[in-house]
Amino acid sequence: MPEATRTPKEGSAPRVVVTRPLPEPWLAPLRDAGLELDVADRDAPMAPEALQARAPGAAALWVQLDDRVDAALLDAAGPSLRVVATFSVGTDHVDLQAAAARGVRVANTPDVLTDATADQGWALLLAVARRLREGHALVQRGEWDGWSPTRLLGTDLADRTLAIVGLGRIGTAMAHRGRAFGMRVAYHGPRPHPERAAELDARFEPDLDALVRSADVLSLHAPLTPSTRHLLDARRLALLPPHAIVVNVGRGSLIDEPALVAALREGRIGGAALDVFEHEPQVPAELLAAPNVALAPHQGSATRATRAAMAARCVDAILAALAEGGTA
Ligand code: GLV
Repeated sequence: MPEATRTPKEGSAPRVVVTRPLPEPWLAPLRDAGLELDVADRDAPMAPEALQARAPGAAALWVQLDDRVDAALLDAAGPSLRVVATFSVGTDHVDLQAAAARGVRVANTPDVLTDATADQGWALLLAVARRLREGHALVQRGEWDGWSPTRLLGTDLADRTLAIVGLGRIGTAMAHRGRAFGMRVAYHGPRPHPERAAELDARFEPDLDALVRSADVLSLHAPLTPSTRHLLDARRLALLPPHAIVVNVGRGSLIDEPALVAALREGRIGGAALDVFEHEPQVPAELLAAPNVALAPHQGSATRATRAAMAARCVDAILAALAEGGTA
């Protein structure tokens, strides 16, 4: 649509750009509040130029984790922009400083997706530990010829160490599930969390390398920042015990993916349970072919109730920001 038609006329309703088609019930509270909704019609990432072309004059942007919210987009939106609501807990795709400098509020969706994401981590971990992909494929191919004492032997988790990097909301939920499976919990992060650790009987490990060495399962829950990018690199992968399973339901770039692929290829680790990848939606061919991985298309929060709750968070944030700015 040409820019002229996107710039609000005096007295017209504030416009909310929504970068994916979303179910009508999720959007209804915004319509009911009298906002104009400019909703993308394709369930695919919008090219940055296309998003910039829609942004001028918008009061709010409801974006996804694969939209880049940078100074160029914020400037394209202009001074009408009050809030960016991202349909994700992660905010690594948003230039928070650029938003703050322009007085634009940024809202994300913490809390409501914690359990769903930890469930996904455990689903993938169990799939790797118990070789569920191989078992399922065997049955599906019609090649199962009866019980075997030695077929598809997997890895026990009880009495093993679940090493958590980042004991935030999702890391803690992952650890609670680990305790329920009889695992010991150790964790690393910028600081100890004595209360959470007491509930989990968890050990704080100030040295990340030492945590990695002690891991039977290593689960990554740090936010992606310049200092956590590739925190699991070739050197640290080499510290893992050879049976260790790596779990990542956070951000793909926490891991140096080619180094992980090499460690799997060379049998230097036990397996990988991955919901996220460095260059989504691309997944290295060698990962696709590896038997000891479980891979999912970034669907940690993908349950009906969780996504509806995330939408409600975005709606509330948009309505609050526009009410405060006197535009809704
Ligand atoms: C998912 O990755 C999220 O950040 O919500």
